[in-house]
Amino acid sequence: MSESRSGEGAVLRSELPLEFLHGGKVRDVYEVDEDTLLMVASDRVSAFDVIMGRPVPRKGEVLTLITAWWMAQLDGRVSHHLLAVDPDVIVERHPRLAASRAQWARRSMLVKRTRPVLVECVVRGYISGSAWKEYRRSGTLAGEPLPKGLQESQRLDPPIFSPATKAQEGEHDENITFSQTREILGAELAGRLRDLSHEIYAFGRDVADTRDIILADTKFEFGHDRDGEVILIDEVLTPDSSRFWPKEHYAVGRGQPSLDKQPLRDWLDTLVDWDKTPPAPPLPDDVVAAISTRYQDVFRRLTGVSLDDYALPHFGETP
Ligand SMILES: Nc1ncnc2c1ncn2[C@@H]1O[C@H](COP(=O)(O)OP(=O)(O)OP(=O)(O)O)[C@@H](O)[C@H]1O
Ligand SMILES: [Mg+2]
Repeated sequence: MSESRSGEGAVLRSELPLEFLHGGKVRDVYEVDEDTLLMVASDRVSAFDVIMGRPVPRKGEVLTLITAWWMAQLDGRVSHHLLAVDPDVIVERHPRLAASRAQWARRSMLVKRTRPVLVECVVRGYISGSAWKEYRRSGTLAGEPLPKGLQESQRLDPPIFSPATKAQEGEHDENITFSQTREILGAELAGRLRDLSHEIYAFGRDVADTRDIILADTKFEFGHDRDGEVILIDEVLTPDSSRFWPKEHYAVGRGQPSLDKQPLRDWLDTLVDWDKTPPAPPLPDDVVAAISTRYQDVFRRLTGVSLDDYALPHFGETP
């Protein structure tokens, strides 16, 4: 398959001949039929919640195939929404997607459509980001008191389930306590999602550790399928849904370099007059190239194979 392997044809905004349902910061979601969605990862890149004006070649492909790589390992352990990622299989199931194949192949997942649970299931194994802010302010995480004297980026043992409500567009997710989660979802579902989230996080953390990557924290989403079963949805254990820290640069007491976005952050830091609100500054060619290379490096470091040599996994059997 030669599609999108050249690195050309980067996509800022997809335009497929399907009903468009949702556009996030990175992904575009389309309806394929009543029970099926196509989730297309564009090559958009954001920093400080602001989308940059230029696409990063192969970034969407990396994000989609990292999710597929994890889902293949979770297959049989955790029920999930991924039906197919191999473009041949997707076209076989939905022949009308053949004509637009070049626009979506390798960057898209065919998934079972669900009714998403309205709580984002975050697990934190290290204290960083909004959790560090909450702790500094009030000594708590997800409303629960933590030991005194923790330092930024310190390991949390055991990891902590710290859910958040899904924000409306343009707003930030809001961290909530476990008892608020229980009120929203009911005790049984809340407990189930907490246990599942811990289990998948621990699995991901241990795998990442063998690649000298610290999986500092991550966010899962779940949804109810047509039969009412709760399944894992969305992207899984990607650099967009998680903090991946290179082990060799880890030190407690400060923020950590980012395995994926560091070239972008470093360049943005050189700008004195951008106030971190839209419009984004125009990315120079060499910065776009550096970010693209970095994402491909993350794929190789995590999976052990290059993006071009990766054999696309298959899921389930019958449609
Ligand atoms: N199997 C599924 N069934 C139904 N909805 C799904 C499924 N998988 C993922 N989703 C939803 O699709 C959307 C994906 O959008 P995306 O993550 O790109 O944007 P977002 O979450 O709105 O914003 P952000 O850019 O901040 O992540 C999410 O709302 C997610 O809950
Ligand atoms: Mg999202």
